[in-house]
Amino acid sequence: MATHKILLLPGDGIGPEVAAEVSKVLAWFTRAGIAQFETETDLVGGAAIDAHGVPLSEAAMDRAKAADAVLFGAVGGPKWAGVGYAKRPEAGLLRLRKDLGLFANLRPAICYPALAEASALKRELVEGLDIVIVRELTGGVYFGEPKEIVTLEDGQKRAVDTQVYTTGEIERIAAVAFDLARKRRNKVASAEKHNVMKTGVLWKETVTRLHAEQYADVGLEHVLADNCAMQLVRNPKQYDVLVTDNLFGDILSDVAAMLTGSLGMLPSASLGAVENGTRRALYEPVHGSAPDIAGQNLANPIAMIGSLAMALRYSFGLLEAADQLESAITRTLASGTRTRDIAGPGTNAVGTTEMGDAIVRELQAQAG
Ligand code: NAD
Ligand code: IPM
Ligand code: MN
Repeated sequence: MATHKILLLPGDGIGPEVAAEVSKVLAWFTRAGIAQFETETDLVGGAAIDAHGVPLSEAAMDRAKAADAVLFGAVGGPKWAGVGYAKRPEAGLLRLRKDLGLFANLRPAICYPALAEASALKRELVEGLDIVIVRELTGGVYFGEPKEIVTLEDGQKRAVDTQVYTTGEIERIAAVAFDLARKRRNKVASAEKHNVMKTGVLWKETVTRLHAEQYADVGLEHVLADNCAMQLVRNPKQYDVLVTDNLFGDILSDVAAMLTGSLGMLPSASLGAVENGTRRALYEPVHGSAPDIAGQNLANPIAMIGSLAMALRYSFGLLEAADQLESAITRTLASGTRTRDIAGPGTNAVGTTEMGDAIVRELQAQAG
């Protein structure tokens, strides 16, 4: 049996709490003889600042490069509010994305049948929802230069962020979206703002050309990003695959999260280019370190456990194990077990650890 090398980076706030539940699931797969993992753990974010003075040590970066997949919890929190911009906790995550070349961030938003009532929208709008946001992750305004605050002669300050995209960057993320759509309902919506931004003009032009040349069989719609945010709340089921840039993707995926009931439900996969049959990858929940509920056993671990399911599927080729895990999540929710963020009338509100235990019990029950 192949051994899959994992680097676990729990991070800050609820990161370590949800990462602990993923460790339980990994241990179960090993015990059940389904897979074998070699898991190393390291610090990232505020925890790494406290220990090493930087949000990601060189040793951790090297371990990330050597791993088959990185499992990431969350970073940040008020404790590090005073740390300089370059060394803030979030810089550790951005460096991982950039230096591992993880340009494609897949953020599936699925409304589990048992959770239709937990959504901020009416049941009929979200029941059966199954969309994927494909977010460009290593370009755009997150990384464009110049990025600075300068003091002007009159004493004012001037802040600059730069939104940059090349045709190559747009083509490769659009190709990921079109390929994914072909395995789904064959529809892509591409969101930008070509009415205001030059990057939007190039984005639309490039997606249109790639579609005509290589993906004419896939349905394509262009939508302005602000309208897209509105459409996600008005009628989210109109979408299948939604491709967009780094910043719009960040915002639209938090909107999509609330359609599923909670930010604590959304997993994600950040993938690099395929080279010699393998690709670098990092798996992380869409949510952050949630300082407001950290340390209280209140966090929903499903986004993190769902991210492991994506790792089983995309990095380890363990498709059956991924299905088993996703079905264990579905069945646990159907049984009425809920963390507080998704609890409702007639459900059994439990803590983070109890939710992890319930999912492991369901895995065991399914295995017979
Ligand atoms: P957040 O995602 O941490 O929290 C937003 C809200 O959602 C909070 O009320 C929180 O309690 C709730 N929430 C989030 N995850 C939850 C879960 N698993 N279960 C139940 N409820 C959950 O966003 P924020 O408060 O804006 O940011 C807090 C810190 O996290 C900031 O420092 C931010 O930069 C960082 N952040 C990190 C990541 C990451 O590491 N990938 C992502 C987003 C934000
Ligand atoms: C996310 C987060 C990150 C982002 C932050 C923590 C850098 O919000 O992964 O959605 O903006 O990409
Ligand atoms: Mn975000």
